[in-house]
Amino acid sequence: MHGVSPAASVFLSVFMLIQSTVEALQVIGGNVTVVQGGTANFPCQLIGATETLSQISWQKKTREKPQNNNFFTILKTGPQFVNGNGDDGRFKFIGDLKAKNGSLQLFRVTLMDEGTYTCIFTLFPSGIHKTEIPLNVLVPPVTILKDDHPILGNEEVSLVTCTAAGSKPPAAISWLTGALTGKVRESTTSTLNANSTTTTISSLLGVPTRELDGQLVKCVVTSAAMTMEETLPFTIQVYFSPMEVTILETSEGSFICEAEANPPANITWSRIDLPWPQSAVREDAVLRLKEMTPDLNGLYQCEASNQHGSKQQQLRVYVASGNCTACWVLFSLLFILIVAAVAAAGYLYKSGRIQWSGDRQPVPTNSSPPEEGQVLQDSSLMGR
Ligand SMILES: *[C@@H]1O[C@H](CO)[C@@H](O)[C@H](O)[C@H]1NC(C)=O
Ligand SMILES: *[C@@H]1O[C@H](CO)[C@@H](O)[C@H](O)[C@H]1NC(C)=O
Ligand SMILES: *[C@@H]1O[C@H](CO)[C@@H](O)[C@H](O)[C@H]1NC(C)=O
Ligand SMILES: *[C@@H]1O[C@H](CO)[C@@H](O)[C@H](O)[C@H]1NC(C)=O
Repeated sequence: MHGVSPAASVFLSVFMLIQSTVEALQVIGGNVTVVQGGTANFPCQLIGATETLSQISWQKKTREKPQNNNFFTILKTGPQFVNGNGDDGRFKFIGDLKAKNGSLQLFRVTLMDEGTYTCIFTLFPSGIHKTEIPLNVLVPPVTILKDDHPILGNEEVSLVTCTAAGSKPPAAISWLTGALTGKVRESTTSTLNANSTTTTISSLLGVPTRELDGQLVKCVVTSAAMTMEETLPFTIQVYFSPMEVTILETSEGSFICEAEANPPANITWSRIDLPWPQSAVREDAVLRLKEMTPDLNGLYQCEASNQHGSKQQQLRVYVASGNCTACWVLFSLLFILIVAAVAAAGYLYKSGRIQWSGDRQPVPTNSSPPEEGQVLQDSSLMGR
């Protein structure tokens, strides 16, 4: 208003006001956006009319019924549904006929309700005055995180997949990769569904090394249909068949077989070539030799297995007949020595009493039992 005097300004305003009232017989509507499941308010107001209002009616054209149809009429006697159309208890007249307010409410909105709603005022004598109100329905995605079960290897595979299904408008997926940044990459695709929602799928790709195992990543899903972003955390698991199998003596005559594996290995003890002796017990990973009797002599095998593979380790037991208190002592001490030797150098250790098969390959079952002379030599070592 630069250069216009205050008096001129007042005059201008009054003039514009008059002009708008003269031109202004019109129906004010709007553009409605609602999240699926919510309530839609269709505003509709007739302004500038001095004629008699005989009725307000509503038409709709939706995904469910694409042809335009009359479904609601508001008369002086009150609102009523046309031919039962739309009469499922979800529509409610919230306007006021006297105030020329035709506003309508729709509860529990679904994607099928999306379309165009027309508010029509019938005046006497000028006739029909209407406005079209688009209803835009937003659908939040259904999010799913799926472990792609990467198996230890050196080629890039999909580690985990994040899906945001049936979103309108399309959802965006991103990953927070923390310590793995630069070691993994994302691959995202989206598909438009027939109902105009979009399904977005994003996979995190990487080389499934032990380094990736146990690392935390997060899938972040954002969509205009959600009030806040959704974060789905996931701990990467790299699966592998049993690695080194070790047999440890936990107490006198009790052995435990252990193997690192993912998922954890199932441990099975067996005896090579001979039936299971009465004086030995196997309970899951534990082998217990109850009494030191020569019937225990032989080769025992522990097998660790999971769905990705299996690995074995063997234990040779030799009990000499005779003074068995001494046998026990000898047995244990030798065992400790063996464990130390295996741990330090990882080579095959042979004793007169127990033969530890440190190699991954099963020891040939025809391997000869320790010779008598060797046993005597070991015994003399023990100061017998
Ligand atoms: C209504 O609003 C939606 C979302 O804000 C927009 O995409 C659409 O174009 C609008 N439609 C009209 C007719 O204004
Ligand atoms: C028409 O009615 C609705 C619902 O009661 C109300 O929110 C709206 O303000 C009314 N419009 C006018 C112009 O009074
Ligand atoms: C839309 O279509 C997709 C794919 O067919 C389906 O998964 C989804 O549930 C549908 N959404 C709605 C709101 O009907
Ligand atoms: C472990 O092995 C035993 C004996 O072969 C078998 O019965 C059992 O189903 C296995 N368990 C699993 C979890 O593989």
